[in-house]
Amino acid sequence: MSDNLHLNIESMDEKHDEFLALLSSIQSCPSSEFMPLFEEMISHTKEHFAYEEEIMNNLKFYGKQEHLDEHANLLGEMEYFYNKAKKFPAFGKSYIHEYAYDKFKRHIINIDSQLAMFLKEHGF
Ligand SMILES: [Fe+2]
Ligand SMILES: [Fe+2]
Repeated sequence: MSDNLHLNIESMDEKHDEFLALLSSIQSCPSSEFMPLFEEMISHTKEHFAYEEEIMNNLKFYGKQEHLDEHANLLGEMEYFYNKAKKFPAFGKSYIHEYAYDKFKRHIINIDSQLAMFLKEHGF
């Protein structure tokens, strides 16, 4: 996880760093902490997405709908694996170890970066 995912919008980078820290703690936690940390990652993601969505609403960002759809997909998927993991821990583990980082990274690079550029143009 050594990619530089910073977009140089402090408030967004802060949320992204917090997410990465949470993800890395789930990846190395004892089994007993897996589900509670997974749940924490979901709440953090809800808060992170709601934060960006509020900015987009306030500034009438042109790419809002695409961004909202992506958030709904990512969160839906995260919740799907969380619920699956209650019965089948291996599903949750494979999501956390093999998918979550790439999904997140792709969102930042392809989608959040457009918002960050727009914010810079608007002196945010
Ligand atoms: Fe983000
Ligand atoms: Fe986003």
